[in-house]
Amino acid sequence: MKVPLLDLVAQYQGIKDEVLRAIMPVIERQGFIMGPEVAQLETAIAGLSHTRHAIGCASGTDALLLPLRALDLRPGDEIITPAFTFFATAGAIHNVGGTPVFVDIDPATFNISPRAIEEAIGPRTRGVIPVHLFGQMAAMEEILPLARSRGLAVIEDAAQSIGARRRIDGVWRMAGELGTVGTLSFFPSKNLGAYGDGGMMVTQEDALAERLRRLRLHGGAKQYHHDEVGYNSRLDSLQAAVLLAKLPHLADWSRARAAHARRYTEAFSGHPAVCPPQVDPHNEHIFHQYTIRAPRRDELQVHLKARGIGCAIYYPLALHLQPCFAHLGYARGSLPVTEAAMDSVISLPIYPELTGEQQDAVIDAVLGFYA
Ligand SMILES: Cc1ncc(COP(=O)(O)O)c(C=O)c1O
Repeated sequence: MKVPLLDLVAQYQGIKDEVLRAIMPVIERQGFIMGPEVAQLETAIAGLSHTRHAIGCASGTDALLLPLRALDLRPGDEIITPAFTFFATAGAIHNVGGTPVFVDIDPATFNISPRAIEEAIGPRTRGVIPVHLFGQMAAMEEILPLARSRGLAVIEDAAQSIGARRRIDGVWRMAGELGTVGTLSFFPSKNLGAYGDGGMMVTQEDALAERLRRLRLHGGAKQYHHDEVGYNSRLDSLQAAVLLAKLPHLADWSRARAAHARRYTEAFSGHPAVCPPQVDPHNEHIFHQYTIRAPRRDELQVHLKARGIGCAIYYPLALHLQPCFAHLGYARGSLPVTEAAMDSVISLPIYPELTGEQQDAVIDAVLGFYA
């Protein structure tokens, strides 16, 4: 049985009428730029994220770029970030003239280690980007006091964690709620995916929200008047309409993903080779990815692919070892927990529409490899 890593066609078939009903008015009125759908979605995402503001933009990459730009970094200013993340996290730091400082992760959750942040803070540090990787939040209750006591910005990269939450002092806190800014991606494969690129920034700070709104429109609050040089980084009305149609399903989709995760973890628990992902007990994990650690990982990947089982390695080469960051001087061995992860992880199909039969095929193929 073939099992894709992700089946967006299956999702579309279930919501086709709702999506077409949402996008047709945009097409009929030919109103593609900054239409009312964008503001509606911003209100809805601010509600979901428990924030005062949400500002749509062109991608999850730009959602990082704009708040980093708002820090007005000077050459040599540093932003601390994990090396075990998608490239955009560090690419955005570089593209605003900052220097990424890569630190190690917690082996249990794959998220940035607060202790490593503390050790990396220096006189040029201006901010921290914790990435809520694979669908569960980083230890914000430890990261925030560290950052606040030193006046650092905290940009939560929640591209993979929309709707994820963490219990802090008895209160559920949403991904993006507590940092200076939280950033979301609507890349099609994300838990809430558009039909193209899209992103959003969430924040509690009024002045910052205003600046981000300007930066996404070439730096001008008023048309043809530019207070600073910004970007063309709007969220399309069509994408906002698609996302508004999908948003009411998000909680059910995340529940379905979590149920699949429980089933996989039951099947793999106690197995001597396969190490299922660990959920921090403070977290509600939305399982953007179900990522196991497995010995002979590359051979396992070949075995799964030969049987038609979709799988992927997120991420095979951590960012501190990427050729474009060679000038920063990190050698192999400098981030041992990150490097152990990149050499052993493999992600399995976890999309909401995955059937029990398909999931059995994945489990049999994984366990069959080690039998
Ligand atoms: C952790 C992380 N940060 C940033 C991004 C960038 O988002 P986008 O692809 O929408 O630019 C992604 C998604 O690909 C991501 O997974």
